[in-house]
Amino acid sequence: MKITLIGCGNMGLIYARAFLKYSIVKPEELLLVEKSEARVIELKKLGFGEVVTPDDDRILDSELILLAVKPQDFKQLSESLAGRLTDKNVILSIMAGTSINFIEQRLQHKAIVRAMPNSPASLGMGVTAIFAHPEVSALQLRKAENVLSTTGRTVYVDVESQMDSVTALSGSGPAYFFYIVKHMIEAGKAMGMDEGVSSMLVKQTMLGAFHLINQADKSLDELIKAVASKGGTTEAALNSFESDHLGKAIKKGILEAEKRAQELSNN
Ligand SMILES: NC(=O)c1ccc[n+]([C@@H]2O[C@H](COP(=O)([O-])OP(=O)(O)OC[C@H]3O[C@@H](n4cnc5c(N)ncnc54)[C@H](OP(=O)(O)O)[C@@H]3O)[C@@H](O)[C@H]2O)c1
Repeated sequence: MKITLIGCGNMGLIYARAFLKYSIVKPEELLLVEKSEARVIELKKLGFGEVVTPDDDRILDSELILLAVKPQDFKQLSESLAGRLTDKNVILSIMAGTSINFIEQRLQHKAIVRAMPNSPASLGMGVTAIFAHPEVSALQLRKAENVLSTTGRTVYVDVESQMDSVTALSGSGPAYFFYIVKHMIEAGKAMGMDEGVSSMLVKQTMLGAFHLINQADKSLDELIKAVASKGGTTEAALNSFESDHLGKAIKKGILEAEKRAQELSNN
């Protein structure tokens, strides 16, 4: 299968590397598209595939055309693509807050799959939510899922509006985790620990705890109970979190992120 990748910045290059790593395409079947000649020259040096500008007709030879440009750059890109797409082309967009309807109107094309990845995609440990235009066939959708799975897991959402919830939960999620880790390391320092020691303790704790979630065959409440004995240290911390409404604050923050995603959407 040939793939065209339009926009070779952070995310675009993550996909290019993942496609080649898992042999979804051979380098000669991957077409990288960038708008500036300077960037085209830089990308050619990477040897990931053929590199062209958006006016090149070869970009339409691919069954799958992945859009990895910033949402604000889509207007200009759509002007160069509109009316040129054929039944053979499936558009796979990872542009945040850009609805299928908006893409359809701009490109005059219906075969569109919308996806929302997150940053651990760079390690093959991402999670990508997907939603497709009703005119995308089951086979086309499966191919798009195969392609996205090179960066981790995929999950199909029932309604497109849930893409805003996905953005708030898994899209922004890594930053919430980093924030908690950062404050735990700070707490270690406040107790007089060397930053390196605190950092090692916290990072390994989070890694081990993550594997317990996945493998211990216990609910989150049971896992918490197993660590927090009555009148003990963990309970002291959890009681303090509760009295500071930390759980509520986390939920509220994520709902704020969803609201912002809705505001930023250009439906
Ligand atoms: N970063 C994330 O964690 C993340 C997560 C989920 C979704 N996304 C989505 O992924 C998309 C890409 O994000 P990014 O962080 O990879 O952005 P980025 O690093 O800015 O990459 C976008 C690339 O597209 C190029 N470009 C712009 N207009 C073009 C055109 N008409 N034709 C060809 N190339 C063009 C840009 O070139 P210039 O620099 O020359 O303009 C740039 O190299 C965004 O829509 C974002 O919403 C990102």
